[in-house]
Amino acid sequence: MLKTSRLTLKVATLEDAASMMKLNSDPEVVRYTGEAALHSIQEAQAVIRERLLPQFEKYQMGRFSVFLEDGTYIGWCGLRFFPETDEVDLGYRFMKQYWGQGYATEASRTCLEYGFEKLKLKRILAKSMPENIASLKVIQKMGMTFRGINTDPTEPHGFITYDLSAEEFQRCKK
Ligand SMILES: CC(C)(COP(=O)(O)OP(=O)(O)OC[C@H]1O[C@@H](n2cnc3c(N)ncnc32)[C@H](O)[C@@H]1OP(=O)(O)O)[C@@H](O)C(=O)NCCC(=O)NCCS
Repeated sequence: MLKTSRLTLKVATLEDAASMMKLNSDPEVVRYTGEAALHSIQEAQAVIRERLLPQFEKYQMGRFSVFLEDGTYIGWCGLRFFPETDEVDLGYRFMKQYWGQGYATEASRTCLEYGFEKLKLKRILAKSMPENIASLKVIQKMGMTFRGINTDPTEPHGFITYDLSAEEFQRCKK
């Protein structure tokens, strides 16, 4: 569990499935994610069971469920390990009514701190579609560096890659 001044980040449980389905059934929320909307609680439970929890079990990292102080689920934020490329990326997704209040920035900062200081990662990436201005802003607020625009023709969506090293993170913190 991670805590910030306004947020609590917890490993997802099956109890989060209904909220996660609501989050992912909003077309505006999934617009720039390249993912299909979730249409049932069973689908959301399968994502938690088969994708989220194994990440925490194997790699001690994953997408945390994010809650306000009063226990309201507002979305998720966290790190994901890609064994095929040996890379870790930062990701986030929040319900629309909570956008624009700095929550993604606050949650991302504590996830980066967890990745660099607890897991001792050397580098964390973030990827975003070029049209996703809000996401690009969060990435820039994290002090990440532009690394390139994906031109892989097998990828259905173009995206921009940024990264941050452990040294840069420590420098940004000062
Ligand atoms: C991306 C997302 C997580 C950002 O969450 P958030 O809590 O609103 O982010 P923050 O409030 O911390 O920061 C967003 C910044 O973008 C700015 N912003 C948002 N939309 C913008 C727009 N259309 N044009 C310019 N700036 C914009 C905000 O003003 C804020 O900047 P500021 O701090 O300088 O004012 C949220 O929009 C979301 O869940 N989107 C859908 C899922 C998604 O796209 N995830 C990322 C996939 S790569």
